[in-house]
Amino acid sequence: MEYSGPASITWGTFEQREQHRLSLFSQTWTQKVPKVFEDVPRYYRLGNIVASLGMWELWVWQFVRTIKLFPQCKVLDVCAGTNSIGIRLLKKQPDISVTAIDRSKEMQVQGKKDAEKLGFHIDSVIQDVHELPFPDNTFDVITLQAASRHLQLFKVLPEIYRVLKPGGYFYHCDMLKPTNRFVEWLYLRYLSFSVPMTALIFGSSKASRDCGAYFRDAIHNFYTPEELSGIFKLIGFSPVTCYTGIWGGMVGFHSAKKPA
Ligand SMILES: C[S@@+](CC[C@H](N)C(=O)[O-])C[C@H]1O[C@@H](n2cnc3c(N)ncnc32)[C@H](O)[C@@H]1O
Repeated sequence: MEYSGPASITWGTFEQREQHRLSLFSQTWTQKVPKVFEDVPRYYRLGNIVASLGMWELWVWQFVRTIKLFPQCKVLDVCAGTNSIGIRLLKKQPDISVTAIDRSKEMQVQGKKDAEKLGFHIDSVIQDVHELPFPDNTFDVITLQAASRHLQLFKVLPEIYRVLKPGGYFYHCDMLKPTNRFVEWLYLRYLSFSVPMTALIFGSSKASRDCGAYFRDAIHNFYTPEELSGIFKLIGFSPVTCYTGIWGGMVGFHSAKKPA
């Protein structure tokens, strides 16, 4: 699906929805989510594979396939976690430079180990991503995978737009709110069960075991693939492309260009 027309969501609606998400989740985002990611790195990949019944690797593979690189391009991976995206991009095009930014030192320590094992270097910045510590127009490609549900998009997206070079591409992938209500109902029921169950299987902390309801509510209050395309257009990206494949909007793959 390509979105070249007007955005399907207004600034006013976007602002209201973001205020609502903030009122529901600000405490969870600042207090609980960081605790969850202290504990997760040791089983992050396997845990995702178990919780998604094996689909996780396919989603990551599909996401990376959408990303177009060119020799020596500068990539920023926002909320890079264990560097799973940066490492795959380096495998695809080894002469690029990748900078990772994430506030979890623990996730980045694991990510650094994983990259070094394969002989790759990824620069790491440990910081909250609501402000990006880079000059305007720095990166050719910016990626954000599996994290935007935990962020204030009203702040992060303009920052991503600012540090992306004109003509550069922003690639986004996350678990989204399915457009179809029945698919959403099934999906959220499954998540309420699978997230705490996975935490139990991997002997994770109480913070991780308790976050099943948050994961469900975060998706219920998040955006559909179409809404997210509209939001990217509001920020200034054009064209915006969205691919949902067979996943019924449970996962979406967006690419959004900053006009040259
Ligand atoms: C589900 S993980 C995804 C990570 C990564 N894409 C990967 O595959 O490893 C979400 C990441 O977002 C990070 N995160 C969440 N909120 C953040 C914030 N406000 N600032 C920086 N990082 C944040 C977490 O620390 C975590 O590493």
